[in-house]
Amino acid sequence: MESVSHLPAILCCFLGVLGLHFIYKRLSSPLARLPGPAISNWTDLVYIRYWFAGKVPYYVHDLHEKYGPIVRTGPNRVDICDVDAVKEIHKTNSRFLKSPWYRTLLPNGMENVFSTTDPHFHSNRRRLLASPISDTSLHQHEDLITGRVKMTISRMAEEIQHRGATDVFKWWLFMATDIIGELSFGESFRMLEAGKKTQYTLDLERIASLQPIRTTFPNLVYFGKYLPLPVFKRTIETGKRMISYTSQSIDRYNKMITENPSNPKKTLFTKLFDTEKGGLTPEEIKNEAQGYIVAGSDTTAVTLTYLTYAVCGNKQIRDKLVAEVAALSEPIHDNDLRNLPYLNMVISETLRLHTAVPFGLPRAVPPGGASFKGYFLPSGATVSTQSYSLHRDPTVFPDPDTFNPERWENPTKEMKDVSIPFGGGSRICIGMHLARMELRLGSALFFREFPNAQRSNKEEMTEKDMEMQSFLLMAPKGHRCLIATN
Ligand code: HEM
Repeated sequence: MESVSHLPAILCCFLGVLGLHFIYKRLSSPLARLPGPAISNWTDLVYIRYWFAGKVPYYVHDLHEKYGPIVRTGPNRVDICDVDAVKEIHKTNSRFLKSPWYRTLLPNGMENVFSTTDPHFHSNRRRLLASPISDTSLHQHEDLITGRVKMTISRMAEEIQHRGATDVFKWWLFMATDIIGELSFGESFRMLEAGKKTQYTLDLERIASLQPIRTTFPNLVYFGKYLPLPVFKRTIETGKRMISYTSQSIDRYNKMITENPSNPKKTLFTKLFDTEKGGLTPEEIKNEAQGYIVAGSDTTAVTLTYLTYAVCGNKQIRDKLVAEVAALSEPIHDNDLRNLPYLNMVISETLRLHTAVPFGLPRAVPPGGASFKGYFLPSGATVSTQSYSLHRDPTVFPDPDTFNPERWENPTKEMKDVSIPFGGGSRICIGMHLARMELRLGSALFFREFPNAQRSNKEEMTEKDMEMQSFLLMAPKGHRCLIATN
């Protein structure tokens, strides 16, 4: 009886010791000395709140404006806005590996070139995947890509006829998804033909908005099937449908290759089906194909959408671009576009101000720790360098919030060094050549077809619709972008 009556006191003591230990750990951490709001020394809650609202880049940017180039954003998390840090963290064979956070982006047990945190897995996988999607190899797919871009523009023209404006976000998204679908699976999703979203693309969209749940509560999502919460059930069901769709498509393509081995329709994975020559298993290809589709559709579509919107919002810029692309003679090849100075400046400026991945790319500080800007970061801390802030550093980009393609006429070394729309080093975007090709062809053919394109205020479309909302990827808040031609 007596020992029971002591229980509350023992419990209080235990909690008191735990509390003191927690306070000691927080105050003695080297990160406690970093500039930043006091709350970030104690809890991640404020950061998580912004993560769920799709506003982390804005929050972290405000912190940089207030506290300087290095800022603590959580008890174990730091963001640095500094060219030397970018060069060190995102160099080839960097010791700063992707943080374990990346593994929470995919269902348990699934690993691909994007999500892996293991450098050996990564270099082996990347070596196999890189060649078919390299700048040189992509030329064999140029006709397919040009064909899809042309179809997109004719669907936009039809929409302008009956609606008075076209939703370029919708069409660029259909285009990018159809292209990466066909390049991965050998068959397109036929979204451009259908002109409306399918269950698969609704799932793709949902996956992006469910990322905060997946990354904040990875274990809860895993055990979600036992919880009566619709949001966890939805997350699991969406993941299952995505896996099942990818499996079916890859199995269909595998069967096609087996039945017609001499002349299969070429995809980015065709060579990799040959396991005897060091390729991948269908299961591994499935994981990579799914990664390509998630990473390669919204990113390109969002960039093209903001490019169109920015150019249509400034008559001088639009007319200059229109004049340049109008001077091209048919048929248009990607090679002609690579040398167009103004088109490429417009693309660089879009990737600066409206990069589809504006938040920091989290990396783990290596064993032994690291020092930046005079502060020591212990091993295991998470360090990021968010492009949203780097691309708006006024010492590198004067008048940073203005869309000014001319700034890329003679870019300084520093401008190039801090520009990381596609990341950097060994983990740089594997799809960037494909993305750039789509950006060049999409914008050139669009402004040839619609020289008078301008922002539309139909259906109560306002600038608010174009506010950038950033979960894992950035997208316009209103999920639409209406453009008219008169
Ligand atoms: C404008 C369009 C695109 C942008 C802005 C973009 C941006 C990025 C960024 C910033 C990273 C680095 C992520 C990190 O370090 O955490 C990345 C990686 C990656 N991207 Fe893209 N991306 C685009 C298009 C594409 C396309 C079309 C594909 C399709 C294949 C793709 C596939 C990937 C993959 C697989 C990785 C992981 C590479 C690795 O870790 O080795 N991306 N992308």
